[in-house]
Amino acid sequence: MNETVKLIYRDKTFEFPVVTGTEGEKAIDITQLRSQTGLITLDSGYGNTGACTSAITFIDGDKGILRYRGIPIEQLAEKSRFVEVAWLLIFGRLPKQDELDRFSRRLTANAPIHEDFKYHFGGFPTSAPPMAIQSAMINTLACFHPQFITLGDEEAFEEAAARLLSKVRTIAAYAYRRSIGRPFIYPDPKLKYVANFLHMMFSMPYDQYVVEPEIEHALNQILILHADHEQNCSTSTVRMVGSSRANLFASAAAGVCALWGPLHGGANVEVLEQLEAIHKGGLTPQKCIEMAKDKTSGFRLMGFGHRIYKNFDPRAKILKASAEKVLNKLGIKDPLLDIAMQLEQLALKDQYFVDRKLYPNVDFYSGIIMRAIGIPVNMFTVMFSIGRMPGWIAQWKEQHDDPNARIARPRQIYVGPTVQDYVPIENR
Ligand code: CMC
Repeated sequence: MNETVKLIYRDKTFEFPVVTGTEGEKAIDITQLRSQTGLITLDSGYGNTGACTSAITFIDGDKGILRYRGIPIEQLAEKSRFVEVAWLLIFGRLPKQDELDRFSRRLTANAPIHEDFKYHFGGFPTSAPPMAIQSAMINTLACFHPQFITLGDEEAFEEAAARLLSKVRTIAAYAYRRSIGRPFIYPDPKLKYVANFLHMMFSMPYDQYVVEPEIEHALNQILILHADHEQNCSTSTVRMVGSSRANLFASAAAGVCALWGPLHGGANVEVLEQLEAIHKGGLTPQKCIEMAKDKTSGFRLMGFGHRIYKNFDPRAKILKASAEKVLNKLGIKDPLLDIAMQLEQLALKDQYFVDRKLYPNVDFYSGIIMRAIGIPVNMFTVMFSIGRMPGWIAQWKEQHDDPNARIARPRQIYVGPTVQDYVPIENR
C-alpha cells in the first residue's frame, strides 16, 4: 500500500509519500517539502529526522532490540568474534571461511605502522589525551597511504578497510605506551586481533603478556557491542564528512573527535569517575540520584539514558553479566561494581528515571570490565573508537556506494539581526 501524508498550509494541501522500512518503521519523505511549500523542518538534535536509509543496523529502542545485518546482538556477542562482526557489518553478510581468512591475513599484514609514523608519537606531550592522538594519527594515515585516498574498486576498498581497522588498534596501543613512557611493542602475527592488541598494550620486550581466553572473549564482546549503532553522533559525523567525498581516513578521524564528548563515547570515562567519587566517599549513590534529578545541578547520571532506548540497552545487559564473570575469573572484588549495581537499583525504582525511561546504557558497565583487564580510564573512549571502527567504515561505504547520496547540508531558521548598515569604528 502506498501511504501518503497530507500537509495543509495556507489553505493548500500538499501530499508527501510515506517510506516504510523492512521492519515496518515509517518516515515521511519530505525531499520535495521546500520546493513545494517554501517550508523547511526544524528538529533540534535531529530527534525526528532520518538522514538516510540504511541496511546495516536495526534498533527498536522500545523493545531493547539491536541487530547487525539482521542478526541479534546477543547471538553475535556469544558466538562471534570482533573481526567476523566487522566483516559482517562492512560487507553485508557473514563471511565464508575463505573470505574471513583472507580478511584476517590482510589485518595481520597491516598491523605494523610505518617506522616513520612512530616519530609522530614523540611529538605529543606524554600527558596528551589518547583520543587526540587517535584522531590525529588516523588522519595521518592518509599521508602514509595516499593510494587509498581515492578508492577505485572493491579490492582497494577492502585493503583500505583492513588497513584502518588493523592500524587503529596499533595506534591506540602505541598512544598508551607513549603516555606511560614504555617502549612500543610490535604486533605479533601469530596472535588474533584482540589478543594482539592486549600484547601491544601490556607485553614488555623481555616479558610476553599472557592472554587469558576469558579476557580475550570479554574484550571481543566489548568491541562487538560497540561496533555499530546506526546514526549516532559520531557515525552521523563520519557520514557528514564523507558526504563531501572526503576520504575514509579523514572521515573516520572526524568520527573519533565526535565520539570523544562526554554525552557520547566519553561517557564511559565519566561513569568510572562518578563511581570512584562515590567510592572515595565524596558522594553517596542516593546523593548522586538526587543531583541527577535536580535540573539546577547540571549533573547527570552518566551511563544512564539514551536517545533511542526507552527500555534496557541490550548491550548493557550483556556487559553487566560479563563484568561479573571477568571479575570472578580474575579473582577481583571491585567495590565499583557493587556501587554501580546499587546505583542501578536506586535509579530503576525512582519515579524520575521511570517516567523518563532512563536505563543503564552501554557505558555503564563496560568500564568496570576494562579496568579489571588493566586498561586505564583515559583509554576507555579509545577502546570505544576501536570497536566503532567497523560501523564507521560500513556506513561510509554504504553512503559512498549510494548513487543518490548528496552532500549533507542542513538548513536553518535565521534569528539574527535584519539588514543594517556598517558603522565606521569611530562612530560606534
Ligand atoms: N541523568 C539525569 N537525567 C537525565 C539523564 C541522565 N543521565 N539522561 C536524560 N535525562 C533526563 C533529561 O534531563 C530530560 O529530562 P526532562 O524531560 O525533565 O527535561 C529527559 O531525561 C530526556 O533527556 P534528553 O536529554 O532529552 O535525552 P537525549 O536523548 O537528548 O539525550 C543522552 C540522551 C544519552 C545524551 C542522555 O541520556 C545523557 O546525557 N546521558 C548521560 C550520558 C551518557 O551516558 N551517554 C552515553 C550514551 S550511550 C553510548 C553513546 O551513544 O555513546
